[in-house]
Amino acid sequence: MNQKLKFIFKRFLYYFYGEKFFKRLNYNWQLFPTRTKIIQEIINHRNYKSYLEVGCDNDENFSKIQIANKIGIDPLKGGTLRMTSDEFFIKNDQSFDIIFLDGLHTYEQTIKDIDNGLKFLNTNGVIIIHDCLPKKIWNQIVPRLYGHWNGDVWKAIVHSRTYDHADTYTCIADHGLGVIFKRENRNKLDIKQTNFKKLKFADYYKNHHQYMNVIKYEDLEKVF
Ligand SMILES: C[S@@+](CC[C@H](N)C(=O)[O-])C[C@H]1O[C@@H](n2cnc3c(N)ncnc32)[C@H](O)[C@@H]1O
Repeated sequence: MNQKLKFIFKRFLYYFYGEKFFKRLNYNWQLFPTRTKIIQEIINHRNYKSYLEVGCDNDENFSKIQIANKIGIDPLKGGTLRMTSDEFFIKNDQSFDIIFLDGLHTYEQTIKDIDNGLKFLNTNGVIIIHDCLPKKIWNQIVPRLYGHWNGDVWKAIVHSRTYDHADTYTCIADHGLGVIFKRENRNKLDIKQTNFKKLKFADYYKNHHQYMNVIKYEDLEKVF
């Protein structure tokens, strides 16, 4: 089957079996700073020395980051180490000032990467997570359907918003940047559905400001 037919078939199946909620958030990501600009600004302002990127692909971001020590991991291409995040964290004994999570975009893998990242994050460090604000249901379907794929990373952000030991925000920039600090949660989310995988896109659409603790780029410095 050619690509277009495959896509039409998958979309048809989704209309039939999937969640039916087709409203969209209207972020125009081109109007906001990029992940690379924001990560580099954080590194410069905080005088960070060590950087880990999980999921590097074509090194579009990794190659531009300037810092004393940087490690990039990806099982397929880019970065400096050819392995999955799970393989890396099992062997790793280094800690980092800033960790950028942009690997497998599923809830299950992202929450694992967050938990592992927190173990290897220096006390005053930060974890940044890409693709936390899908604009429409099609962007968050697992497995990937087509176009830009946020996956259901956003559910891992909602989960970490309930932690006592981590303080989580989502910056409106570059498809949504999760921002997690290793400190007491300053605004813990109280939510009934704690099977986070089961959260619906409709829940996210209606509650994403509260669920994700959304902040503007201009206010990012204030939460450090
Ligand atoms: C969206 S791309 C990364 C883009 C890159 N960070 C950037 O900013 O341009 C996602 C990458 O994650 C990698 N990946 C997939 N599963 C992974 C895993 N379990 N651990 C680490 N990386 C993974 C893929 O091979 C892919 O290259």
